[in-house]
Amino acid sequence: MLQDAFGRQFSYLRLSITDLCNYRCNYCLPDGMPCADYSSLSLDHIGHIAAAFAAMGIEKIRITGGEPSVRKDLPQIIRLLKETPGIKSVVMTTNGHKMSKYLDSWADAGLDALNISCDSLDPRVFDAITGRDELDKLLEAIKLAQISAIKTIKINTVLLKQYNLTDLHKLIDWVKDTDLTLRFIELMETGDNADYFASNHVSAETVQKLLVQTGWQQTIRDKAAGPAKEFKHADYQGKIGFIAPYSKDFCDSCNRLRVSSSGKLHLCLFGDSGYDLTPMLVPGKEIELQNYLSEVLQTKPISHFLQEHNTGSTAQLAMLGG
Ligand code: 5AD
Ligand code: SF4
Repeated sequence: MLQDAFGRQFSYLRLSITDLCNYRCNYCLPDGMPCADYSSLSLDHIGHIAAAFAAMGIEKIRITGGEPSVRKDLPQIIRLLKETPGIKSVVMTTNGHKMSKYLDSWADAGLDALNISCDSLDPRVFDAITGRDELDKLLEAIKLAQISAIKTIKINTVLLKQYNLTDLHKLIDWVKDTDLTLRFIELMETGDNADYFASNHVSAETVQKLLVQTGWQQTIRDKAAGPAKEFKHADYQGKIGFIAPYSKDFCDSCNRLRVSSSGKLHLCLFGDSGYDLTPMLVPGKEIELQNYLSEVLQTKPISHFLQEHNTGSTAQLAMLGG
């Protein structure tokens, strides 16, 4: 089992397969991705990474980006991860832009769960945030996902003071009659978004308090479930979750490691520039890779230093996929 110096155990890997994205979310890639800089992992590298982490106790892999569906071989990647001995669940984060077209191929390949980003239910605000006037298309695709073979569908919504705070009730009402989990994510500062962060950051705890006042109750979750908190309400079919990276003790329940699209191991979303695994992603170096993973894990810091506006080397989350 992968365990760090603070006794945290790691069963969950987030694997960024490309840093390219077809959206331009204003908190992440307002000017799009500089194409010359992009990186993506080969199928071969993905196979080596999955095998090594699975041999060391990783059971769940999240495919992330950039936007994973910009890759034509995505169904092959899902299948490869799903067929790796020891991997029990393969899940993915997407902006949903290509979802209606490719959903069935992801389900056939064995995808267990999807987190879909949707930051507003107002078409104009959605366009202002993402650079795409396609909220209706996304909502149709989400309905298709809910009736597909993919078992769990969650929606990610980043809390943004200037964009979606006045319309939160619409988002909350969305889960009244449908069994979706809506996850509010507190905006995180990255190297590229300092001004945007200053004018848009809202603490998740403020919204959490509002929910509690209207009858939402926090559910008890296993410590191994990771840092998200979840709330339910007797009158609502769905659930509301929170990812509150600025809250006290957030990092205590960290259960995840990250590999970037250039094959670097990141011990924290806001850590240093990562540990290059690519020289060990070749036949014959399996044991060396596993030993290296256990060794560097001992240097995982106890928490991030976001409170001090120290964003590490993370310029935007498209590098690592959130
Ligand atoms: N802060 C919080 N969430 C972010 N995401 C991207 N950038 C940020 C940020 N700076 C979210 C996306 C997506 C998930 C992968 O991460 O909206 O839902
Ligand atoms: Fe793309 Fe996700 Fe960044 Fe939006 S937040 S630009 S969908 S990588």
